[in-house]
Amino acid sequence: MRILGIETSCDETAASLIKIKNGKIKVLSNVVSSQIKIHQQYGGVMPEVAARNHIKNILPVINKALLASPLLTKERGLGGEVDAIAVTRGPGLVSSLIIGLETAKSLAYAWNKPLIGVNHMAGHIYSNFINNNKIEFPALAMVVSGGHTELILMQGHLKFKKIGQTRDDAVGEAFDKVGKILGLGYPGGPLVAKMATQAENRKPALSADRSKVESIVMPRPMINDDNFDFSFSGLKTSVLYQTQKDKNYKKRIPDYCASFQQAVIDVLISKTIKAAKKYKVKSILLAGGVAANKELREQLGRAVSNNIPKVDYHIPGLQYTTDNATMIAVAGYYMAKQKKYTPYNKLKVDCNLSL
Ligand code: KG4
Ligand code: ZN
Repeated sequence: MRILGIETSCDETAASLIKIKNGKIKVLSNVVSSQIKIHQQYGGVMPEVAARNHIKNILPVINKALLASPLLTKERGLGGEVDAIAVTRGPGLVSSLIIGLETAKSLAYAWNKPLIGVNHMAGHIYSNFINNNKIEFPALAMVVSGGHTELILMQGHLKFKKIGQTRDDAVGEAFDKVGKILGLGYPGGPLVAKMATQAENRKPALSADRSKVESIVMPRPMINDDNFDFSFSGLKTSVLYQTQKDKNYKKRIPDYCASFQQAVIDVLISKTIKAAKKYKVKSILLAGGVAANKELREQLGRAVSNNIPKVDYHIPGLQYTTDNATMIAVAGYYMAKQKKYTPYNKLKVDCNLSL
């Protein structure tokens, strides 16, 4: 079976072709056209501009993804390469989502292929299944992206139960805002992470007395609360207020980045380990754009092996952490196995879709 994945929920236009044989997934192509350079000048994603660029890019990106197929012949045509089309239907920007979705519907109609409407966050979680079909349930997914911070319990494939979420800013959003406060540019996440590597006071997670080891002390919001929710807007404000009071802050930007990043990681790790113990999970999955963060990847891995060594820890390959269409195709494959198809005339965008 071959599935074409299409993703346009925010500012990346992406298409991917995957092949599944005897339950094993092979990625034939993973094409991502990023608009970061365009949106950098605005300091964030401009929905109208993103939509116009999706329109320009969508067919060339799909064409490139399909041309990668080793079996492509002139007679069979591009549609002959595809058994089903999986497309993101939400959550995301409505003007961006609609372009991928309407393109997928048109192709499904023209080629007479089944269509699968995929939840973008399910796609992020399924980035863990791209090169790995041995994940055991129950599993706990920590989903950290530009728009979401959620702890999701999975009792089986596509069985999602949200057990915690952010009450204000998402983790990626907080990284991006801190990047802006510190004048690093957009998107702030990778820039803050890079700066943090130059900090003088990088210290291991969860040290007993932070004031002795951190040159800049940041709060750990809700870390001891008896729930699995998060709050990151106060942390971002703490960076803002401390830099406003600090005449030398420009010389200490790496320290601010490292302290902020460590505070975020401490909270994420603490809640993930607590939830994993409570729900007795067999696997932990990290997912979403912030899963590209090297410190988070490594420190969560260490925390799992130190605290709950019997639990397997999974992370997606770096190229599958930020938005891509392979994760949508793979989630689509697991949906196809459960016959979760939608007729092309019934599939609609839902920009507030939740898991
Ligand atoms: O999943 P994604 O590509 O888009 C959404 O669905 O939101 O996530 C993008 C987010 C941005 O906020 C970006 O700054 C953040 O992921 N991000 C990072 C890193 N790489 C991307 N945050 C922290 N460290 C990184 N290395
Ligand atoms: Zn995303």
